[in-house]
Amino acid sequence: MPTNSTSDIQHPTSEDIVWHDHHVSKAERAQIKQQKPCILWFTGLSGSGKSTIANAVEAALFEQKKHTYLLDGDNIRMGLSKGLTFSDEDRIENIRRIGEVSKLFVDAGLIVLTAFISPFRQDREMVRQLVDKGAFIEVFVDTPLEVCEQRDPKGLYQKARKGEIPNFTGIDSPYEAPEFPEIHIRNDRLPIEEAAAQVLNYLEKKGYLNA
Ligand code: ADX
Repeated sequence: MPTNSTSDIQHPTSEDIVWHDHHVSKAERAQIKQQKPCILWFTGLSGSGKSTIANAVEAALFEQKKHTYLLDGDNIRMGLSKGLTFSDEDRIENIRRIGEVSKLFVDAGLIVLTAFISPFRQDREMVRQLVDKGAFIEVFVDTPLEVCEQRDPKGLYQKARKGEIPNFTGIDSPYEAPEFPEIHIRNDRLPIEEAAAQVLNYLEKKGYLNA
């Protein structure tokens, strides 16, 4: 029996691929979960507190029996985005992948939380355009560089300053702050519970936590 090598595989052209409509609709998947699916897109510098706040928000939503999923920068770079570097090009590809996965999870009816630096405004806008109006909630975790650098939880700023990590956001790679985020958290002044409450109140007030 000949074995299939990758060169034998006939790759389909786009005409060969047909979109299948599912029997269960997006609206029905959301309805059964008693929530409005959306993406809470946390953006901010490394060490700004994105993951910590996103985790606290997810825990609180779970308590309320909401259906969630958290996509986190460091973990995703060990799997879905394994092999991608921190060049501008690879960061764009990283965010594109996260955006597509988040869109699928929204389709599944979930409240998705993402915690990525996502330094480029254009990429965040690209994700916003992937989903329905109101389904993309940009959460700017606004912690000044000096504070992130002082916290330096992973010791990466120190390494970056010594030139040991190239393209480090805030040092030799840019961070484009959101201009009109739905939620703006000034994280250098707030306890974690209050930062999380700011997000939870927004969801409550805008009706995301009811079907
Ligand atoms: S993003 O720019 O592509 O959105 P992402 O959120 O996935 O970045 O990964 C950021 C995390 O990777 C940081 O919190 C930090 O732990 C680590 N990291 C390693 N190298 C870099 C770098 N050059 N710039 C920023 N973060 C880096």
